Parts: sequence; structure tokens; C-alpha cells
Amino acid sequence: MRKKVTVVGGGFVGSTTAQRIVDAELADVVLTDVLEGVPAGKALDMLESAPISGVDARATGISTAAGDYSATAGSDVVVITAGFPRKPGMSRDDLLRANYDVMKQVVEQVVKHSPQAVLIVVTNPLDAMAQAAFKLSKLPKNRVIGMAGVLDSARMSSFVAAELGVSVENVHSFVLGGHGDDMVPLPRYSTVAGIPLPDLLPKEKIDAIVERTRKGGAEIVNLLKTGSAYYAPSAAVVEMVKAILKDKKKILPCAAYLEGEYGVKGLFVGVPCKLGAGGIEQIIEIKLTAEEKSALDKSSASVRELVTVLGV
Ligand code: LAC
Repeated sequence: MRKKVTVVGGGFVGSTTAQRIVDAELADVVLTDVLEGVPAGKALDMLESAPISGVDARATGISTAAGDYSATAGSDVVVITAGFPRKPGMSRDDLLRANYDVMKQVVEQVVKHSPQAVLIVVTNPLDAMAQAAFKLSKLPKNRVIGMAGVLDSARMSSFVAAELGVSVENVHSFVLGGHGDDMVPLPRYSTVAGIPLPDLLPKEKIDAIVERTRKGGAEIVNLLKTGSAYYAPSAAVVEMVKAILKDKKKILPCAAYLEGEYGVKGLFVGVPCKLGAGGIEQIIEIKLTAEEKSALDKSSASVRELVTVLGV
């Protein structure tokens, strides 16, 4: 039987994610949105592209305006991209609360219909929304994962590859912490064909790459003017979905619920995780220098602030 993935939210991130999953023939996809018609239209368009791509994955789209999620039943993975982007005049707390309300409506419904699913949370502010989804779903912690480390690492890798004029396939970047301006790129653990970055680039070049990585999301928002990135975010989600559906045991940076790892308790923060059929099957702990640890603490404190506002 084919695998099934539900993608909640038919915006650019959601629909691009759905399309990538179908194109890779990873699973049948159900795309949902509160809008009428849009998810069905986008899914039909994907379905009609399948004969050209030669893939037998089926896309369907449903409107959840009436609160009916029954078409999502039995999903192996549920990707949650639904949420409001920040609008002028909206405080960070307003966005937090608005998206928490979205999480509340979505999570309860998807878990009711797919109690065995792994949830991947993409909605911003990402780490806090992952924590909200974890608490609302009452799922075991290994089955609620926040995306972002894969995206942030990919951004860093693309800048490193461009700087050195080497294949992106040679570059492995390592970014820890929350998906915010104080995320923690770790040059020491970032390598090019196995060679640590500090052996290849001078400090000022590395610092510039670290800074650009931290502001990677904002750089794209500033260019697009309306909306935010979706090609790299959807590619990142699909790498995680693939690791889970194919039980690859792949080590990827993800937001995970920490209970003492890295000295962090009761909080979602980005760390290296082993992803397989069970979701997060292991959290990999590495030794940090005092400076790296304090950067991670600072990033965790930012996430803590948000979850405290929500009380989750
Ligand atoms: C980004 C936003 C969407 O990093 O979180 O592109």
C-alpha cells in the first residue's frame, strides 16, 4: 500500500511541498486549506502532471472550512504549514496567538484521524509552534518534529559552496538552535569533503556566511516584498518526510523536544536528530565549546520566551 502524507495549508510552502512529494513518488498526498476550491484545484493540477512525470502518486485537495478532516485519515506523516504571516501592525505576540489558534484547530483534528502519524511543523514561529503542536496533540515526543535546521543548514551550505566554488554535494553545514536571528551555525562542525570550514576560509568570510545564514529568511522576504521563501523550505520538509517514510535513519538537524539534552529542559530547539519510521529515533549530543553553548542558551531563551507567552 502506498504511503499517505497530509499537507495542511495550501499556500506556497504547502503546495510546493505537496508537489515535491508527488514528483518524487514518495506518497499519495492530501492537500488541505480553509479556502474553498484552492486545495482541490492545486491538487488536480498536480494529478494532471503525474502522467508527464510518470509518477503514480495521487494528489487530492480538500477544503477544511467546515472543519472536516476525514479525508486525511490514516496519514503516515502530517506536515503543518498553515498559519498567518506577520502583517503590518501585528506584534510578535499577536502572530504567536493567531497561529496558536490555527494549531489548536488543526492538530486536534489531524491527530483524531491519523493517530499514528508523525507531525512535521513548519508554521512560524517554528519552535514555539512545534511545542504547541506537541502539547495539543499529546503524541509522544518522537512523533512531533519542527522543520528548520535542514533549511538553515542548506542556506549555509549554498553560501559555502558559492564562496569556495565547489559542489554543494561536498558541503555539510551544521546549524543548531531555534529558527530565529540567534540560531547557531557551527563552522567547526561544518565541512567541505570532510575538511572543517575553519581550515578552508578566513574568519571574516565565515562570519559573513554565518550572518547571512541567520538572516536567510529575511533576505528573501525583503526581495519578495510579499510572502516568504518556499522552494528551500519545501525541499527541507521533503528531505525529512523521505527519511521518515523510507526509514532511512538519517541524521538531520530538526527542532526536537529536549528533556535535558544540551542542558535544555522541556523545550523545542534545533539539534541533530536521527529520523526514521518512528520519527525522531535519537537525539545526537555533541560537545560544544563554552562560546557555542552560550549561543545555544541564548537561542533557547528566545524560544522559551515565546512558549511562556503561550503557556505551552
Ligand atoms: C524562512 C522563514 C519562512 O526562513 O522562516 O524562510
